[in-house]
Amino acid sequence: MAPTLTQFGQQMSHLTGVRAIMKDIIETLQSGQSADFINLSAGNPVIIPEVEQLWRDCTAELLASDDYGEVVCRYGSSRGYEPLIEAITADFNRRYDLTLKPENILITPGSQSLYFLAANAFGGYTTDQRLKEIILPLSPDYTGYGGVSLYPEAVRAYRPTLEVDEAAHRFKYRPDFSQLKITEQTGFVLFSRPCNPTGNVVSDDEVRRIAELADDVPVFIDSAYAPPFPALNFTEMTPVLAPNVVHGISLSKAGLPGERVGIAMGDAATIRVLESFQTNLCIHSSRYGQAIAARAIASGALAELSQTVIRAHYQEKFAVIETTLDATMPDVPWYLHRAEGSIFAWLWLQDLPVDDQVFYQSLKQYGVIIVPGSPFFPGLRDDWDHKHQCFRISLTDTAERIAIAIRRLAQLTQEIYSRGPQP
Ligand SMILES: Cc1ncc(COP(=O)(O)O)c(C=O)c1O
Repeated sequence: MAPTLTQFGQQMSHLTGVRAIMKDIIETLQSGQSADFINLSAGNPVIIPEVEQLWRDCTAELLASDDYGEVVCRYGSSRGYEPLIEAITADFNRRYDLTLKPENILITPGSQSLYFLAANAFGGYTTDQRLKEIILPLSPDYTGYGGVSLYPEAVRAYRPTLEVDEAAHRFKYRPDFSQLKITEQTGFVLFSRPCNPTGNVVSDDEVRRIAELADDVPVFIDSAYAPPFPALNFTEMTPVLAPNVVHGISLSKAGLPGERVGIAMGDAATIRVLESFQTNLCIHSSRYGQAIAARAIASGALAELSQTVIRAHYQEKFAVIETTLDATMPDVPWYLHRAEGSIFAWLWLQDLPVDDQVFYQSLKQYGVIIVPGSPFFPGLRDDWDHKHQCFRISLTDTAERIAIAIRRLAQLTQEIYSRGPQP
């Protein structure tokens, strides 16, 4: 049966961005040679024993408590499970000297859904048919932003400036404030910090500047990798919580991706709009995940493990990528993005003689899978060579296998640059 799809049905039944590549990766891995592949494409976090134990302990506590029936056998408030909201407000108020109240918080089924709610409440067409844009101030950014709006034309991204250290083979993106425009046509601003895929951390000053430029336009800061949990920042950063900022937290990289717990923190009027949208869509997020998260946050254990275990785990993997690239890459203009956070490394091969898709396919012949960079520029209309010269490398495999994969990548890089441009 082929049901007739609406315009939105068409839009939402297509895989966008990196999900389309993931289909190819899954087919490759299922092709019978999967044991030979080193797969550095994964976005799934590593199951770290200490973190898994924390969630087991919180589950055991919940099972033994009187709350169990209330948590899993009943519907609850759309805003979220009250003890989780209390734990979050208490933690942030103490840690960052804030005055958050329950009305500043909304729990969503994962943070991706939060951006979907925002994209369709504040982006898209107004009742008088004006297009409100979703501005991504620094491209590349999270590929998922390409699929959040029912009106893809609403997503507009800006090219960054590049700070390049040629001798060290490192680079960093910065927002280009000479280009960035936030106007009355802007519905809201959105960026990830630390950034998936690049690991970039927009500085505290740059965030404040964006928030000031935005004035009373909401600025959603996707903090899926930020402190206090999962604290996957390798450089100093503080959450910037200005009146127009909505801080989006995810517990996925803190070991709970299956439970779908996202947290929006911001101005009460903005949170109310998102809450109503969520009630209409799905009533509320699963309460089991919220209940164990409440325990892990209230005890301080989640923030503690994030800083001491989760961050160290990925930072060590990043060091393996850096040292292996430095030792094995040929003499070509390659640049690794500065390691500022997230669970990925981002490699730029300047003047690459083939495009990122061809390089990805060729690397598969060496038994290595990384993600071609072009799907990470959602909303960027510019024709820019750089979009086809970058790769995302996940830090989720073992250090040994990452080192082997990077050596093979260096070998292929040598081969491709020495062959020169292909017809
Ligand atoms: C930057 C960023 N935002 C949002 C998400 C979605 O996370 P969640 O599992 O909370 O929906 C991801 C997932 O990888 C991400 O990398």
